[in-house]
Amino acid sequence: MLNEKLHFYIEGLIQERNPLLTEMESYAEIHKVPIMEIAGIEALLQLLRIQNSKKILEVGTAIGYSALRMANALPDSQIVTIERDEERIQAAKDFIKRSEHAHQITLVEGDALEVEEIVNKFAPYDTVFIDAAKGQYKKFFEIYSKHLSDDGMIITDNVLFKGLVAEEEIESKRVRNLVKKINEFNHWLTQHPDYDSVILPVGDGVAISKRRGERK
Ligand SMILES: C[S@@+](CC[C@H](N)C(=O)[O-])C[C@H]1O[C@@H](n2cnc3c(N)ncnc32)[C@H](O)[C@@H]1O
Repeated sequence: MLNEKLHFYIEGLIQERNPLLTEMESYAEIHKVPIMEIAGIEALLQLLRIQNSKKILEVGTAIGYSALRMANALPDSQIVTIERDEERIQAAKDFIKRSEHAHQITLVEGDALEVEEIVNKFAPYDTVFIDAAKGQYKKFFEIYSKHLSDDGMIITDNVLFKGLVAEEEIESKRVRNLVKKINEFNHWLTQHPDYDSVILPVGDGVAISKRRGERK
């Protein structure tokens, strides 16, 4: 998103992670698991610290990397995280068990479109972090914004999708359809009457949405 030189400059300033997290980064690379970009996750963690988030809902655990980064950055927080892919659930369980943060993380196994009842048991959430199937962002937002605390914040990753949202011609029909959905979501989100939203061109594009005033 930024020019490449600046991108590497910023990444070069980010501190080394602990050995377990570094192992997870390698695992994700080898097994082609899409974990959040390093600069994007640093921005997310800083927002959570500023908000002093105590309860976080994550849609899209993958192998538990971002969940563990959040638990590590906010030792007083509780994180509920949803994943539907069996293999990733197993990997996430193994990594979380090996960490010092297992007591902070609740992994909900299943499709985020179907587990609202379970997730609701831990509500309200100070932060909802959406990082799952990009074509479903609006649905995730609609379902889980209901369980946000009154001054809560919703963070959505990948809203610029490698810059493709601003491309006029995209060859692949599948990618074109996905880009269309993300574009629709971005327009819907930035015009939402109940939220003030901003899109930061960091990582793969991070949208920050803050509830406006009191819940109606
Ligand atoms: C980009 S990865 C999450 C990365 C993770 N947040 C991180 O940065 O470490 C997205 C994950 O969401 C999961 N996913 C996608 N749609 C989902 C759904 N409807 N319900 C539950 N999980 C879903 C995928 O299986 C995938 O593992």
